[in-house]
Amino acid sequence: MQIYCGEKFPQTRQRRLRLNQSIRDLSSENFLIPPNLILPIFIIEGVNETETILNLPDVHRYSLDLAVKRVQEAKQIGIKAVMLFCVCDQKNKNPHGREAINPDNLMCRAIKTIKNAVSDILIIADVALDPYTSHGHDGIIDENSIVKNDETIEILCQQSLIQAKAGCDIISPSDMMDGRVSHIRQTLDSHGFQNVLIMSYSAKYASNLYGPFRQAVGSDKNLSKADKKNYQMDYRNSNESLREIAIDIQEGADQIIIKPATFYLDIIKLASQNFVIPIYAYHVSGEFAGLKFLAKNTQINFEELYYENLIAIKRAGASGIISYGAIEILKYLNF
Ligand code: PBG
Repeated sequence: MQIYCGEKFPQTRQRRLRLNQSIRDLSSENFLIPPNLILPIFIIEGVNETETILNLPDVHRYSLDLAVKRVQEAKQIGIKAVMLFCVCDQKNKNPHGREAINPDNLMCRAIKTIKNAVSDILIIADVALDPYTSHGHDGIIDENSIVKNDETIEILCQQSLIQAKAGCDIISPSDMMDGRVSHIRQTLDSHGFQNVLIMSYSAKYASNLYGPFRQAVGSDKNLSKADKKNYQMDYRNSNESLREIAIDIQEGADQIIIKPATFYLDIIKLASQNFVIPIYAYHVSGEFAGLKFLAKNTQINFEELYYENLIAIKRAGASGIISYGAIEILKYLNF
């Protein structure tokens, strides 16, 4: 890579490349286009229902009929994939997260309904038990509240299978159990779902930024003051992420997720320099809410701030970004 080539003023004027918007666009190293963005959607039971989420400004929960409209809107603007999260009734939660493997649960109904209503948009289905467990953890727990790895994997495989049967295109395990990618791959393959992709949360940190999401899916009260540090990664570590990613790739992941994004740009960069696989960064609820609150309280233009943040994530090497304001920012960019 050429870094210094004896450039001298006045022959060289760096500002020539910044003269106007067209020149800046012509020489830009990074862009944000619709296929770079994945839209997460929160779904609730009911008809014609929209709910606001306390600490996630401008993001809503939608009943399935309105979620379909949201997917159509995403498709219209050029987004290629949506990621579904469903809210499970408290009365259907139990320590084993049984509702996760009910083929008629909201997630499966949502996948089928959206598939039928909208063509050519990819459906990514989350795999983890936290929306369904009475304790709010991503798996089943032992007497010390440690998530049991291998027992959890068995349930995750069943959850993946019913979601694949319902018609999702991509399975996205967000649970951080060891070995789940290979087991899910085997389960899918042995049931004829070789073409269902696995987008694995490979490097998911035990972050403080997930609060608004937990409120959105209603797992915050179940989890209460507990944390997920016995399965999600310790944020003091970066090399460990390389191990996690290498193992997931070896187990059959097609795409990987790094999460959160902005505090973890070094991890995105490290991953993009070391692995040849599509890398998605999850710009999580706390990051999005933080930008909203910052813009509101300081009169900074939200869209400009958000665009700068998303570009930083791309600049670090992400192939794509999962983000709550995907439609909002694309509209702002005139797509
Ligand atoms: C849970 C899950 C979480 C998010 C996505 N899937 C929260 C958690 O791990 O507690 C967080 C996403 C966000 O904050 O936007 N499996």
